Amino acid sequence: MAGRWKSDLNWSDVTPKAAFMNRRQILAGGAAALGATALAGVSGPAQATLGAAPSKWSMPLETNSYEEITNYCNYYEFGTGKDDPAANAHMLTTEPWSIQIDGMVDNPGDYGLEDILANVSLEERIYRFRCVEAWSMVIPWVGFELKDLLDRAGVQAGAKYVAFETVLRPEEMPGTRSRVLDWPYREGLRLDEAMHPLTIMATGIYDEPLLGQNGAPIRLVVPWKYGFKSIKSIVRITLTDTQPETSWNMAGPREYGFYSNVNPQVDHPRWSQSSERKIGGGLFAKRIPTLMFNGYEEHVADLYAGMDLKANY
Ligand code: MTE
Repeated sequence: MAGRWKSDLNWSDVTPKAAFMNRRQILAGGAAALGATALAGVSGPAQATLGAAPSKWSMPLETNSYEEITNYCNYYEFGTGKDDPAANAHMLTTEPWSIQIDGMVDNPGDYGLEDILANVSLEERIYRFRCVEAWSMVIPWVGFELKDLLDRAGVQAGAKYVAFETVLRPEEMPGTRSRVLDWPYREGLRLDEAMHPLTIMATGIYDEPLLGQNGAPIRLVVPWKYGFKSIKSIVRITLTDTQPETSWNMAGPREYGFYSNVNPQVDHPRWSQSSERKIGGGLFAKRIPTLMFNGYEEHVADLYAGMDLKANY
C-alpha cells in the first residue's frame, strides 16, 4: 500500500506551491511586497496558511488553480449554478463549529473544531477529484484522516456504516428553500471505506482555510468516489449498523447508488462515464479517459473484492 502513485506525469508537472504563493502575493501586494516576502522567507499572506506537510498519498499531477477550485463549485444549499456557491456561501457562519458524533461509539458528543484539529496532523494531499457530471479537477487538499477522528470517538464492534450530515440553516442557505434535494444533505460510507487512509476530512485548499463554497469549515474527501460523496460543512457523524440514506440516492436511485465509485464501465443513465474534461483547459480541451476508481485502484480495489460493481454502482 505504501509508495508513490503510479502516474503518466512526472513530478516536474506539479505546480509548485511556491509558484502559487508567489502568484497570489503578486496579486495581493504587488512586486515590492513579493520582493520583501522572498527575502524574509515566510511572511505576509503565508503566515495565515495552515502549514500542512506534504503527504505520500499525493498524486503527481498538475493542480487546478485556486480560482478554478473556488469558483466552479457544487453546493446546492447555495444554489444549483456552478457559480452560485461562490456568490452566496459567505452567508454561512462557520465559527464556532462542532461536529456531533453519535450512534455506535464509546465517546459520543459534540467535538469542537479546534479540539478536533488539536488532535490530528494536517497533510497536504493532491487528489484527483471526479464529478459525476464528467468533469474533473486536481485539488491540493489540506486535511487529516477521518480514521483519526473515528478512533477518538471509539467505534463500537457492531458498527458497519458511517452517516454524515451537512449543517442546515435556511436563513443562511438560500438554496434550501428549494426542494431540489431532501435536506439536510446526507451521505454515507461503509466503515472500511471511512477508515481507509485515502479518506480525509479536509479543512483547507492550497494551504488556505476552506472557503464556504468548498465546504467550510470541514468537509469529507473520498478520492475514488464521485464528488457528491464528498459532503461539505459537516455537523454530524453517526456510526450505525444499517446502510444510511443519502440525499442523491433518495433524489434519483437509478442515477446515484450508495457506492458511487468512479467506474468508467458503468455509465450514468443519461451520459457516459468513460471520459472526463478537466476544468480549466478551455472549451476545446481534450477529454481524457476516466480511470477505474479514479486512478486509486491499487489502493482500494480490495475493498470491493467479489462485489458486482455494476449492481453496486
Ligand atoms: N455537499 C453539500 N452539503 N451539498 C452539495 O450540494 N455537492 C457535492 C459535494 N458535496 C454538495 C456537497 C457535489 S455534487 C460535488 S461534485 C462536490 O461537493 C463539489 O465539491 P467542490 O465544489 O468543492 O469542488
